Amino acid sequence: MAQRFPALNPTFPVLLHGGDYNPDQWQKFPEVLSEDLRLMTLAGANALSVGIFAWAALEPEEGRFTFDWLDRTMDSLERNGQKVILATPSGAKPNWMAAKYPEIRRVNDQGRRDLQQSRHNHCYTSPVYREKVTIMNSKLAERYAKHPALIMWHVSNEYGGDCHCPLCLAAFREFLKAKYKTVDALNDAYWARFWSHTFTAWEQIEALDSSVHGLKLDWMRFITRQTTDFLDHEARPLRKFTPNIPITINMMGTYYFLNYPAMANHIDIVSWDSYPSWHEWDHDTNVAMSTAFTHDLNRGIKQKPFLLMESTPSAVNWAGVSVPKRPNLHRTASLQAIAHGSDGVLYFQWRKSRGSSEKFHGAVVDHVGHENTRVFREVAKLGGDLSKLSNGPANGVMGMDTPAEVALLFDWEVRWAIDFAQGPRNQDKNYEPTVQQHYRPFWNRGIPVDVLDSTRDISRYKLVIAPMLYMLRPGVADRLKAFVAAGGTLVSTYLTGIVDENDLVHLGGLPGEGLMDLFGIWAEEIDVLPQWMKQSVEAVADNPLDLAGSFAARHYAEVLHLRGATPIATYTKEYYAGTPAVTVHKHGKGRAIYIASRNDDAFTDALIASLIQQHAIRPTLSAPLPPGVSATYRTDAQHDYVFVMNLTTDEKSVPLDAHPYQDALTLAPVSGPLNLASYETRVLIRPSRK
Ligand code: GAL
Repeated sequence: MAQRFPALNPTFPVLLHGGDYNPDQWQKFPEVLSEDLRLMTLAGANALSVGIFAWAALEPEEGRFTFDWLDRTMDSLERNGQKVILATPSGAKPNWMAAKYPEIRRVNDQGRRDLQQSRHNHCYTSPVYREKVTIMNSKLAERYAKHPALIMWHVSNEYGGDCHCPLCLAAFREFLKAKYKTVDALNDAYWARFWSHTFTAWEQIEALDSSVHGLKLDWMRFITRQTTDFLDHEARPLRKFTPNIPITINMMGTYYFLNYPAMANHIDIVSWDSYPSWHEWDHDTNVAMSTAFTHDLNRGIKQKPFLLMESTPSAVNWAGVSVPKRPNLHRTASLQAIAHGSDGVLYFQWRKSRGSSEKFHGAVVDHVGHENTRVFREVAKLGGDLSKLSNGPANGVMGMDTPAEVALLFDWEVRWAIDFAQGPRNQDKNYEPTVQQHYRPFWNRGIPVDVLDSTRDISRYKLVIAPMLYMLRPGVADRLKAFVAAGGTLVSTYLTGIVDENDLVHLGGLPGEGLMDLFGIWAEEIDVLPQWMKQSVEAVADNPLDLAGSFAARHYAEVLHLRGATPIATYTKEYYAGTPAVTVHKHGKGRAIYIASRNDDAFTDALIASLIQQHAIRPTLSAPLPPGVSATYRTDAQHDYVFVMNLTTDEKSVPLDAHPYQDALTLAPVSGPLNLASYETRVLIRPSRK
């Protein structure tokens, strides 16, 4: 049942618009600081993230704190009508601290301690750094607890990476001790007798042995655990002095080294930094699809609205070629985030710095310093639009739900396990692209999808797609069985249910943990195909999924035996020609579909099209969307906000159905077709469909 969530900070119930603001760099330029305030008003900025890398400005030498500039910043922003997302500055440690306390600097995997440089490279375990963070965060929280500008905590910046110092290694061993209790149990869990890797003392455990997959997985889990522990440590004083101010960390999409869903309960708001490579290659619709996927994944982490914490108003500066966004695309990319569940659009960065590594990174305010730039005008226009979307009928779009009937599983631990495994095929494992391959047919049709970690509750969906679910984390197999038994449709693929959470292969036939019964198959063998070897699958006549035709397959082809399932398609080549390649099996009130080979996009599209039809899954708009146009919606069960986005450089005409639509910005009635210019987005309101 669709609902409305509270605004990110219920005391400031508008869509947030603004971004990273670094007044600490400009204290010698008072005229710039006052100009910033004038420009923020013009840009429709209402929320600025302040102090992210300001430790040296807040504590220039040990124990001497200088909050005066931050006091002035907070006060002047508040007077000017802007709120503050206040950062804790741990993302960059000051030079004096790194020099005095070498232990706060990371040690790399070859045992060498970093020289002080750059940022995002402090040790998460160091008691000294933790102590310094506690002092700093307590002072910030105490000082600004009652400040009317403070609406959110931005804890650190883009947590990431690992450290191999003796303190971290000791903490890792403690983590393993708590998990396994005895070294013998750890040896069993890791199958450590292999190559004589049996451990006889905890101290023998190093983090780097990539031949022991269970150990590698635990190291990755430890990095997430230790980072989360550091986050909890940072958050403690914030929660103490400001219990009502929500806490976020800015995440990085599908960043490999942190299992973000495992961190969900430690923050109040999910936020992420989105830098799609628009225009870098000639395929903006691909970029748009994969950005939509990542927005949906971020919404899925807490299953509620999130925040686009960073995006560039024009170009980044770190790509091979950092192409500025073409006219109108900024608005569309930003509204795409809102469409998929963000309750704001924030930028890196408000103003271009004058020197150092990000001086050429896009910003709202360029070095020229005034508002007469294309980028500023586009930002200001968006600011006006966001303000209207905050105040429209039914209290605007903030907090509105996303009505997904489909869940797609994307799981960090599964990705790690697939990547760490040596074999069955080491090239083109492509876990993330494969998950996105199964997202695309929904995106093309304007069908909302929740992207979820495999441990989440899936009972409310009609359809669950679980590509390459190689590792079954505890409880997952039972949840999948219960979901199907209760009437759901599950779609899985090759490489499903092969190992347990320690990467030990299930004995007695695959897929394991009872999934042979769920799918009604036994996967005897995995054929892996080099580029030159072709395989294809051909639909069986009159199959229950209405699949027709034949489709190319590559990379993976499992050889199946039927154990109750009905074949949908069979292989056409190799020693297993004629055997089942796609199957469906009734289980309880539902059915479980198994796709045994990596088939081409046309197959995935045809299969998903048929499932959409059979399950009456509703797209955002009833008529098919022209290629390159995306549509999705948010709802509170009274009204829908419908976003129709043209991701191409061509004009597009989009048919509308018979609902009474109105333009969300002008409130004028709208009837179809919608004619969208290059990169144009329209936002419409309609009464919710029952
Ligand atoms: C982010 C980071 C920002 C800025 C930005 C540039 O990853 O959080 O501080 O560096 O990248 O694109």
